[in-house]
Parts: sequence; C-alpha cells; structure tokens
Amino acid sequence: MEKILIVDFGSQVTQLIARRVRELNVYCEIHPYSKVNQELLAEFQPKAVILSGGPSSVIDGFSPRIDLELFEFGVPVLGICYGQQLMCELLGGKVSDSSDREFGRAFVEIDKESPLFKNIWKKGEKYQVWMSHGDRVENLPDGFEVIAKSDGAPFAAVANEAKKFYAVQFHPEVTHTPDGAGLIGNFVKKIAGCAGGWDMSSFLDEEVQKIREIVGDKKVICGVSGGVDSSVVAALIHKAIGDQLTCIFVDLGLLRENEREEVEARFEEKFHIPIQVVDASGRFLSLIDGVTDPEQKRKIIGKTFIDVFEEEAGKIDGAEFLAQGTLYPDVIESVSVHGDAAVTIKSHHNVGGLPDRMNLKLLEPVRELFKDEVRKLGLELGMDEDLIKRHPFPGPGLAIRIPGEITHEKLDILRKADTIYIDEIRKAGLYDEIWQAFAVLLPVKTVGVMGDARTYEYVCALRAVTSTDGMTADFYNFSHEFLGNVSTRIINSVRGINRVVYDITSKPPGTIEWE
Ligand code: XMP
Repeated sequence: MEKILIVDFGSQVTQLIARRVRELNVYCEIHPYSKVNQELLAEFQPKAVILSGGPSSVIDGFSPRIDLELFEFGVPVLGICYGQQLMCELLGGKVSDSSDREFGRAFVEIDKESPLFKNIWKKGEKYQVWMSHGDRVENLPDGFEVIAKSDGAPFAAVANEAKKFYAVQFHPEVTHTPDGAGLIGNFVKKIAGCAGGWDMSSFLDEEVQKIREIVGDKKVICGVSGGVDSSVVAALIHKAIGDQLTCIFVDLGLLRENEREEVEARFEEKFHIPIQVVDASGRFLSLIDGVTDPEQKRKIIGKTFIDVFEEEAGKIDGAEFLAQGTLYPDVIESVSVHGDAAVTIKSHHNVGGLPDRMNLKLLEPVRELFKDEVRKLGLELGMDEDLIKRHPFPGPGLAIRIPGEITHEKLDILRKADTIYIDEIRKAGLYDEIWQAFAVLLPVKTVGVMGDARTYEYVCALRAVTSTDGMTADFYNFSHEFLGNVSTRIINSVRGINRVVYDITSKPPGTIEWE
C-alpha cells in the first residue's frame, strides 16, 4: 500500500497535513520525530516523507532532530516551516534568527518552475501563503536552489530536484494558503508518484484488522452516548470483534425527550449491538440538588458519570480494553525538547481518568480522524444519515442548558420546548445547515398575560449556531417569521414558559452552551 510518513515536530497544525494527504486518497500516518528511525522507515516503507512545522528553533541546541539517514532512504521529502529549517541545516545549510519575522498572511514570488508548483503556480507571479516563523534559512545546502521567495524569507521555497527534496517556509496545509492543498497534491501524486485509491472503506478494513490483532480474545467496554463519535466507534469495534464488546449507556437523567429509548432502539434493532442501559437519574439528580455554580455542577456530573461507569464496567468479567471516540482535534501532541512525545487528552472527555483507575488499556480507533471523516466512516458502516448528521450534544446534557438550580420540573419544561424547536427546524429543512440548535431554560420568571389572566413564568432562550469545529461560531440568521412561529408554538403548548428570546451572540465572545 502507498503510504506517506508525516514526522511531527509539535506543530499545532500537523493533523492538517494528514488531512490534506487523506483527501488525496492516500494513506498516511503521523509519528513523533523521536520515534522515527531506520527500523520504522524499513517497516513503514513510506513512498514519501513530510516533516511538519514545530515551535522549536533549530538554532537552539536542544531542538528536536532526526537521523540524517532519513535523507538517504531514497524517497522524496517535503519539509514545512521548522521541517524546512531542519532539513536545510541537517544537509549542510545555515539557519539564523531573522529580524523579519512573518506571521499570518504573506506573499511568495515564484522564481523557478518546479514539479511542486506544476499547474498551480507560475514563474514570476505572486501568491498568497500563510507564514508563521521567526527563524529563516540563510544558506542553502549543496544541490538546493530557491524556487520561491517572500519579503521576509528569501528562501520561501527551495528544492533539490535531483533528490526530490522540497522545503517551504510557509504552511501549505492550512486553508489560509489557498493553493496549499494543490501543492501537497503535487508532492504526493506527481513527485512521490502515489496513485491514490485509499478511502474510508480501506480505513474500515484496516481498522477492523488492527482491532482484531490488538484485542485478540479479550473483552472491550465502550461507553456510548448516542452521539456520532461513540456510535461509530461501537459499530466499528463490533464489526471487528462482535460480542467481545459490551456497550454501556449511562442515563444521568439529563437527556432530551425520548433520547434513551431512541438510543436503545438504534443499537438493538438497527445496529444489532447489545447495549447495557444504566438508569442513574435518581442518584444523579439528588447529588446535584440545590447546586447552582456551573463549575460545581460539571464536576459533580463528571464524577458521578465516572463512578457509575466504573461500577458497571466492574461487573464485566475480564475486560481489558476501554474504547473511546477520541478524535484528532481532542489529542494534543506536545513534543518536549528532550525528545519525548507526550499525549494529552482534553478534559472534555467524559471517561478521562478511568482507564488508569480500572487498569484498562485504551482503544481509540478514530483518534486520527476529524469529525467529518468519522461521519464518512459511519456511512461506510451503514449508519443512517439522521444519526450521522445529528447536532453535537454535550456530556453534561441539559444540566448546562438550565442555568442555576436543576429540578425535575425545569427539565420537563426544557425537554418540551427543545423538542418543539428542533421539530420546527427540521420541518423548515434547516437542521443540516446548523451546527447546533437547542433551547435553554432561564432561571428567570417574567410577567405575561394569557387569556385575561396574568402569568408569571419562565423565559426560554433559543440558540442556533453555525460553525465548522465548535471553536468559533456565528449565531444562525433565522427569519423573524420562523422565530415568531416557534415562539408561539412553545408558549401555546409548554406550560411554564410565557416568553421566548433568541440568542444573537457569536462565539467568541459567547460560548455555544450557556454554562
Ligand atoms: P462551548 O459551550 O464551549 O461548546 O462553546 C463548544 C462545543 O462543545 C460542546 N460542549 C461539551 N461537550 N462535554 C461535552 O462532551 C462538555 O462538558 C461540553 N461543554 C460544551 C458544546 O455543546 C459545543 O458543541
């Protein structure tokens, strides 16, 4: 199989290189620089190598290095930013601290035609790129020539065409370099000669094989939430090892209307995967009773979830693995200057801390994928579009959509309002345009008039945002007519709400959830 090896030097955007390569239907893997040696190369047999950027400076004696032998392996190499500087320095050039730092948008001028630019960039023209560098290459190694320059980087792109070594100071993997994906395409296809042909169905076959090898005849536990990521992971592992997998679904009493029943039905009837449903709602709601501080709420929810999950998992004899739907953006690979690659998982993960406590090994089969790739994998596994396109729902559930104290009464009111809101969004055909939409029940009562009587009831806020990754978001621009209809329907049919408002805050400065 054609494979590209990406050597990670700790850049925040290394995963985007992998994504760009996968978009070309070529398989790739990211390995931390400290693990890249002759044995790995011999075993991996890459068709080409890409060296990522990184926060270090090659001028610093402690900066991450790789073995010079990589350049003798006989395959094309592309160095990006730090990767460029390291390549040039290792091969005999010189890098120095630059007074002309470049961060953000910059322009490169093409000095020479090159296979790297073929059909994309023309000699003598200028093109936009994204730069982020302090150091820059000052002297080129033997055999290299400049193919593009920028104001701050006379060696913005350099090449040793004979050896097929290319190195760029800018970041082709980010979308702010509009032609970047094309350049990576030229490197992978034209220069490294990859034909492409790998796709999600290949990924599925390979992962199934890997899971079987790793797990053997042992048992795996998987916590499922009903969301896309954990469902895809459960289905993938089930395909690999069948009933060696046990899925646990914990109901903390904070789900939306009919959610538990829907998840149960989906797993049992559609996926044919048995699922253990644990009703911990009573226990949870009594623990959270009277708690108003958002942080405190999250902590109690997180801890209770782990306690319940641990108790249930403990009942399964001989489980050795815990499966999680960790995605690439959840994994921050930080590379220390001493050469150890450390992996930290963001605390968003509900079952964080469990594997150690329970002596379980982690199984994270989608940790190299982005959300939209997980969705593709889900389709490949035969899941229906409804599930695949579901809006994200947070672990702490409705608890973070009821600011202040949570009661059964408030949960009931919120569930009803939320169901109506989402139903109207679906009927208007807007669900798939929106990243996330939900109702929030404010701990505020206001005066209203219904019939001839005065009312004093809760305010419901509606939220809908567009986003690509949840990190930034814009409020969704509904028509006033749509909002008016939803408001009328909620007030007419949900007892306890007499006023509806729409949240027009973007993120930042607001967050998507209200707590
Ligand atoms: P915020 O509110 O931080 O949300 O703008 C960004 C995205 O993350 C989801 N979210 C969570 N997901 N556990 C989760 O699993 C949590 O504690 C949590 N808090 C927020 C939120 O729904 C949105 O998609």
